[in-house]
Amino acid sequence: MFSSHDRADDNQGTGAGVQAARKVGVDPNRGGTIRATSQDCFASNSDTFDLIFVDGLHHHEQVIEDVRNALDVLRPGGVIVLHDCLPLSCVAQYREQSHFIWNGDVWKALVEIRTWPEVDTATCLIDHGLGIVVPRANYQRMLRTIDYDAGLRFAMSASS
Ligand SMILES: C[S@@+](CC[C@H](N)C(=O)[O-])C[C@H]1O[C@@H](n2cnc3c(N)ncnc32)[C@H](O)[C@@H]1O
Repeated sequence: MFSSHDRADDNQGTGAGVQAARKVGVDPNRGGTIRATSQDCFASNSDTFDLIFVDGLHHHEQVIEDVRNALDVLRPGGVIVLHDCLPLSCVAQYREQSHFIWNGDVWKALVEIRTWPEVDTATCLIDHGLGIVVPRANYQRMLRTIDYDAGLRFAMSASS
């Protein structure tokens, strides 16, 4: 497992429950097995991975870069999982962190990725929202061109 920003290998954090022969966690500040930003780590990485969990800097442009980089090193049959795709509150999705729980505008990355023809996506109503990205033809491709400056807004509407 390559966990962008996860304490994958010290039996804490999100990757702790994942059973894999080799797990890597990348974080510039704490935990993990590699002390670096995801962008620096991808720049020097020559490994490939079956599962890549993206949960680092919660800005949509960073997540999009992480997913593009992750696709380059994903093994056949591999899956990318994005954390924080369904913000828990309005304040949680601010660009800058203002409260302990911070999802940022990661959800915008998944909206953008849904317009890509080469990946299929799903969003799971679990935890803070898990985005699933799989490299295969996107038959439900969203055709709209995203204009973030025009004021994309998030509204949560779900029932159990
Ligand atoms: C929400 S926490 C993730 C926690 C982790 N998934 C876990 O379970 O322990 C976000 C982490 O992203 C890290 N981070 C911030 N900027 C980053 C970047 N550019 N690349 C990688 N990680 C980054 C932060 O240091 C922080 O630890």
